[in-house]
Amino acid sequence: MHLRGRAPGTAPFFFKHEHCSASGLGRGLGSYMPFINEHYLKLRAGYLFPEIARRVKTYIAQNPGTEESIIRCGIGDVTEPLPSGVRLAMHKAIDELGHRETFRGYGPEQGYEFLRYAIAENEYRLRGMQIEDDEIFVSDGSKCDCGNILDIFGSSNRIAIVDPVYPVYVDTNVMAGHSGLPDASGAYEGLVYLACTRQNGFVPDLPAEHVDLIYLCFPNNPTGSVATREQLQSWVEYALKENAIILFDAAYESYVTDPTVPHSIYELPGASECAIEFRSFSKNAGFTGLRCAFTVVPRSLVGVTESGEKKGLHALWLRRFSTKFNGVSYPVQRGAEAVYSEDGRAETDRLIRHYLGNAQILLQALSRSGLEVFGGINAPYLWVGAPPGYTSWQVFDKVLNDIGVVITPGTGFGAQGKDFFRVSAFNSREKAEEAGQRFQSLRWN
Ligand code: MLT
Repeated sequence: MHLRGRAPGTAPFFFKHEHCSASGLGRGLGSYMPFINEHYLKLRAGYLFPEIARRVKTYIAQNPGTEESIIRCGIGDVTEPLPSGVRLAMHKAIDELGHRETFRGYGPEQGYEFLRYAIAENEYRLRGMQIEDDEIFVSDGSKCDCGNILDIFGSSNRIAIVDPVYPVYVDTNVMAGHSGLPDASGAYEGLVYLACTRQNGFVPDLPAEHVDLIYLCFPNNPTGSVATREQLQSWVEYALKENAIILFDAAYESYVTDPTVPHSIYELPGASECAIEFRSFSKNAGFTGLRCAFTVVPRSLVGVTESGEKKGLHALWLRRFSTKFNGVSYPVQRGAEAVYSEDGRAETDRLIRHYLGNAQILLQALSRSGLEVFGGINAPYLWVGAPPGYTSWQVFDKVLNDIGVVITPGTGFGAQGKDFFRVSAFNSREKAEEAGQRFQSLRWN
């Protein structure tokens, strides 16, 4: 009899039942089960947002009748309807699928040419950046891409992560076995943490050591900070000098209001030699439920094999994409293309102004209530100092219990977030105003 088995960390192989022994295989007789990826066991509790949802559910169960009045300023999920131009394009695409002559089955895994062209042209070439259509990879989300990108990198890279941080960058590295265990503050052994503090304006200083991969996110989630052109240029120069790759998450670039602040890392000379950029239709055009994003992998990016041979990252990502993904649905890609039409742009601008208007309302209300508030100018997030004596989860509980508002505790984003909380401006105007009033009524002891 043949059973499949493997030693942890090795490729699957086949062996004969009679050769199995508890001592040889590290498991007891009779317990033949698939080995699990034990790196998952290092992860701290649940993913942040499901944990918040769980606490809110418990609160509602303990306080019946409160569900309707709760205002959610926790997860950054859009609330406003999809632009009409996007909806029309999707309706048309669905009708095409209803006729034999225009029906489409599998599309190109990396995205239809019409959308890759629209993105490369509108987001990059018309803004003076030389990005080719085939350097755009259309996907179902930046969260997925930020995690999936690790498939094409080796396991011995030194990885730099900012703190506070969008938890996906950390957790996916832990899952991939790039870290040891977390310490009491939640920091994982082996990762290089770059502190983002009041002192550095929540823009990290360059690492004092060599790192291979660097995650940056601007406008930043969770702090709402932006990096100046000079700051980003210094990151590009660091990466070029160290042969590092910057993984640049620009999911919130449309919220940049300051004309001097870069929207894309490729605005900086040299970036196409050292950076991958993640972009999304979620937060500008309201696609959080529809799912469409893109990742830019310039052909000029290279990594190295253990034996020192240089290999292009573009070819690896293309191979990964075409093997593990079948593309975003045709109607959704047509909807995304419509974001670049005249109407689509006007409607998208209106959505962004709406959420930034909410951010202003919340910023003023929180400031008036005596709290120290950052962000909210070039980003849909406010990063708020917790009142003295409160941990960020205590703030979460008090805000939920006293005024029925859900926020995100800063500690969920890393050790540096422990004295902060995040307020999301994604809401209707009515709810943003109501949340502002409730914040001002809050009394901290
Ligand atoms: C957030 O609240 O941080 C975001 O909604 C998370 C995400 O975009 O995945």
